[in-house]
Amino acid sequence: MNKIKRIGVLTSGGDAPGMNAAIRAVTRAGINNSLEVFGIRRGYEGMIDGDIFQMNSETVSGVIQKGGTFLLTARSKRFREPEGRREAYEQLKRIGLDAVVVIGGDGSFTGANIMSMEYDISFIGIPGTIDNDLYGTDYTIGYDTALNTVVEAVDKIRDTASSHNRIFFVEVMGREAGFVAINSGIASGAEIIMIPEEKNQIEKARRFLAERARKNKSSIILVAEGLEEGSAMEIASMLTPEFPQFDIRVSILGHIQRGGSPSAKDRIIASRMGAAAVEALLDNQKSIMVGVVNDVIVQVPLNKTIKLHKAIDENLISLAEGICTFGPPKN
Ligand code: F6P
Repeated sequence: MNKIKRIGVLTSGGDAPGMNAAIRAVTRAGINNSLEVFGIRRGYEGMIDGDIFQMNSETVSGVIQKGGTFLLTARSKRFREPEGRREAYEQLKRIGLDAVVVIGGDGSFTGANIMSMEYDISFIGIPGTIDNDLYGTDYTIGYDTALNTVVEAVDKIRDTASSHNRIFFVEVMGREAGFVAINSGIASGAEIIMIPEEKNQIEKARRFLAERARKNKSSIILVAEGLEEGSAMEIASMLTPEFPQFDIRVSILGHIQRGGSPSAKDRIIASRMGAAAVEALLDNQKSIMVGVVNDVIVQVPLNKTIKLHKAIDENLISLAEGICTFGPPKN
């Protein structure tokens, strides 16, 4: 017997294209299964402040194609404290919510997991971050759109790079993860892809530039922002004096990677995950994340997705090196 009657949905952490599609799916699937669905604005901040309103099917009309999140998002410091979570719980009880669907990344899931241990609230996570760095799912909402945004930008940078015969260091997002960098790098034909998961990235770029010097050709070097060895700007400043023959430029793509209308793939994944989150609640599940593995919806315990590290597929790294101008590094 399902005991859930009223559910909340929120978006938390960095926004990602496709979050609106997920909110829409949670809302419609919930209502179509006789649940009452409430939107919680500004993530956990709005939960603490009681910024909560009932939604109907029309509330989510015309949002599937929009970037960002119409529920707004935040990174809540107050929710990290027991007092903040107690206030949040009181607000949920005031409205009579039994469960909350959290669309966000690992920080958001950590908060949900802690609160689910302290209070009798069911939390279901939907992975939403352009970084794609969550264990237990092949895709996170927003990743595909961000990849397309990066590829479009790099294609444009390449036009000017080749016209001026320049070397461009292009920095992409991904905190401590190189998923955006590796796949956008492959898709845009970047000559070098520097990711935090691999060691000696500066040495790799140095070797490449030394080879390139003989050919005097333009190139794109894609740098993931989370590199231990430094930012794209720092790496470029380090290498520029060593290669005075090159005209080196740096381009930081920044937050444009988080915006824009979601791709078809993100809208579909978000819709599937949203409906699956409601199904999980109806099935009396709690403290799990719904994900997609090999195109099949899966459920992963929240504490597992928080604790375990998602590794980049080694085959992708070999592929990137195997099809780049000079092939894999020869030691
Ligand atoms: O959404 C994830 C992410 O884009 C990371 O790649 C990045 O480090 C971070 O968010 C930056 O977000 P903000 O500017 O909102 O702190």
